[in-house]
Amino acid sequence: MISKAIKNKSVLLNSVNLTRSYSNKVNYNEIYKKHSKIAEKELSKDEVIKAIKENTLFSWNPTEAAANKALVMEKGDGVYFYDINGKKYIDFNSQAMCSNLGHTVPEEVIKAIDDQLRSAAYAYPCAIVTPVKAKLSMLLADIFPGDINHFFYTSGGAESNETAMRMARLFTGRHKILARYRSYHGATLGAMTLTGDPRRWNSEPGASGVVHFMDPYPYSFKWGDNEEEITEMSLKYLRETISYEGPNKIAAIFIESVTGTNGILKPPKGYLEGIRKICDETGILMVCDEVMNGFGRTGQMFGFMNSEGVIPDIVTMAKGINGAYLPLGAVGCRDHVADYFMKNPIGIGSTYNSHPVTLASAYAALQYFLKNGVLDNVQKLEPVLKKHLEELKSRHPTVKGYRSLGLFGTVELQKNSKGEPFVGYNGPAHPAMGQLQEDMVKNGLYTLLRWSSFFTNPPLTINEKELKEGFEILDKCLTNLDKHFEK
Ligand SMILES: Cc1ncc(COP(=O)(O)O)c(C=O)c1O
Repeated sequence: MISKAIKNKSVLLNSVNLTRSYSNKVNYNEIYKKHSKIAEKELSKDEVIKAIKENTLFSWNPTEAAANKALVMEKGDGVYFYDINGKKYIDFNSQAMCSNLGHTVPEEVIKAIDDQLRSAAYAYPCAIVTPVKAKLSMLLADIFPGDINHFFYTSGGAESNETAMRMARLFTGRHKILARYRSYHGATLGAMTLTGDPRRWNSEPGASGVVHFMDPYPYSFKWGDNEEEITEMSLKYLRETISYEGPNKIAAIFIESVTGTNGILKPPKGYLEGIRKICDETGILMVCDEVMNGFGRTGQMFGFMNSEGVIPDIVTMAKGINGAYLPLGAVGCRDHVADYFMKNPIGIGSTYNSHPVTLASAYAALQYFLKNGVLDNVQKLEPVLKKHLEELKSRHPTVKGYRSLGLFGTVELQKNSKGEPFVGYNGPAHPAMGQLQEDMVKNGLYTLLRWSSFFTNPPLTINEKELKEGFEILDKCLTNLDKHFEK
């Protein structure tokens, strides 16, 4: 089979090489003239999509299908954005659960970016530091509880997780890392290997040393009938996994403190506390991936703060750190971990680490967050979101259930009274879910659908009226979906 595939591929490559030949002479003046005109032109939707198909590639979906379905965003305004034809959408997923401050960039963030660009636009991170790096690091040390006082800046969530893996391995001198099946940690090789969900499969065999374990909430069975039982059994199972792998061979346990795309799952009572205890007993580092939870999404500043007294050894973050206005991630660690790196290098780095303009955006965005009580807004709207979700459940037979905390919510759908999903675990698409997505777009709501569920994760700056407006659209779309319900 494999040799046949290779043979077919080489025939294909030969035919491409045979039929096309290119000159490598390029007339840059002509290109400049052409693009001076293009730059002035307002592209139509069709022209945008044509260029996207001809000159770009998509990530998780085949490019052609993804390009055909893509919305062409022209401008953002608060919790809304507009497409190129002027159609308005309410953003019910903050794009990738990241546009947490909405689509209107606060003036102070624009000013901070502008000032930084005009003063020091770039600094080599290995040898040069900037005042904004000092200020942001002091602010983060104040925002984080406990002794999480030291920060390393990256360009996003995956890179932060790569760095945390490296730090944990160097600090402990151990290689293995435990991560959960119901998780997503990013798309670079190490982060993809950490990831437990099927997005990992295309990157396998991946990096070495990661062992996956099951969550307190597996898809197809329960560890127990109440939170106490679930916590007890899943921690017993984790302890047993650790003993099979060798506690002194394991550098870290990575967890999303509240599971994000794999189902908005708050850990059962005592679970994170239990993991902290296991880590303390075994010298394994506890690493919390706060890339999606961090900075208020769950109703606490960080997801791990939903559990009593738990301070992880290392924390990774991105997205909400600056409302995703520029690419930025970070790793935070406690004093005992940082002490090691005072005398030893992390040995990882990139040109864009600690980019002063991204740091300036975060410093201003976090001050805006604090000044405007964004966390208070999330806490105030948490019960309102729950009430809307409950109403959807009571009104629509296709709504099997929902989960939410803070402004982090998901609705699970069912196709019949047996509770069967429209799309099973990583299952084939179902036309009803495709129709639901089309209805949402038609009615002016953007969100993410995954298998048999969709998310309700608006910007954290949303108000009650806007939240209601989004749910009215969802109600309408679900009334259509209900026609697919088989009693
Ligand atoms: C929990 C979690 N970790 C890591 C990542 C990866 O972040 P990035 O896409 O910035 O690399 C994501 C992205 O969605 C995430 O949700």
